[in-house]
Amino acid sequence: TIEPQTYNDDLRLAHVLADSVDSLTMARFKALDLEVETKPDLTPVTDADKAAEESIRSQLSRVRPRDAVLGEEFGSTGHGTRRWIIDPIDGTKNFVRGVPVWATLIALVDEGRPVVGLVSAPALGKRWWAAEGTGAYMGKSLAAATRIRVSNVAELKDASLSYSSLSGWAERGNRDEFIALTDDVWRTRAYGDFWSYCMVAEGSVDIACEPELNLYDMAALVPIVTEAGGRFTSLEGADGPFGGNALATNSILHTEVLQRLNPNWDDLLG
Ligand code: IPD
Ligand code: CA
Ligand code: CA
Ligand code: CA
Repeated sequence: TIEPQTYNDDLRLAHVLADSVDSLTMARFKALDLEVETKPDLTPVTDADKAAEESIRSQLSRVRPRDAVLGEEFGSTGHGTRRWIIDPIDGTKNFVRGVPVWATLIALVDEGRPVVGLVSAPALGKRWWAAEGTGAYMGKSLAAATRIRVSNVAELKDASLSYSSLSGWAERGNRDEFIALTDDVWRTRAYGDFWSYCMVAEGSVDIACEPELNLYDMAALVPIVTEAGGRFTSLEGADGPFGGNALATNSILHTEVLQRLNPNWDDLLG
């Protein structure tokens, strides 16, 4: 096992990686010559997505040569128990339209456990991070940090829910349950992407959920939400990280939301 001190070094490294990638992505944001391609799944990818992931990979191969890496644009490399998981730009659709809600997500997973998570959203002027056991923080750097906590909202009628898109709920077979849940909460917003989950950690949203989400979309978010006192599971209640779908709450509302989104909840419990 690795000492917590090493995790702190890894957290510092995540900040260093984010600092250099932020200048690269910011220089390309709103660039008139942005190169946009369409992926086989019909979503956009830009030269900035690829350059950001390449930059993180080349730095990691120098300073952490033994660690494995998984990134959205260039897949999986290396073996070993420690694996960095990178989404170079989360929110590419926003990025290509000039909307500032996009971020670089950097996570370190050790033997399947997410031990470091960092979300850097330079166009919003925001960064969130956590390492296992440190609590969760937001700020511009390690030195300029504010500790963050989830909300105390205890009832659905007072809760704020954020999601990314409606497609996917039908495929999961419970679009109706999701719509009914959005009717019963105080407020529903589609802040989307990383932002919904970081707002759960900050306490400004109480429930974030997504029927379709990849490991690289969520690995960095798990420690940020859980170290802020929240819970992060799959929509079926399994502890993360995982690929497929996600539910993050302030903890208090978690079981009630799982019950609402799984009409067969009693069967799931066995
Ligand atoms: C997307 C965002 C979005 C989610 C999609 C992802 P990208 O990531 O996280 O919220 O609904 O499934 O693919 O492509 O902008 O990194
Ligand atoms: Ca993408
Ligand atoms: Ca993503
Ligand atoms: Ca991405």
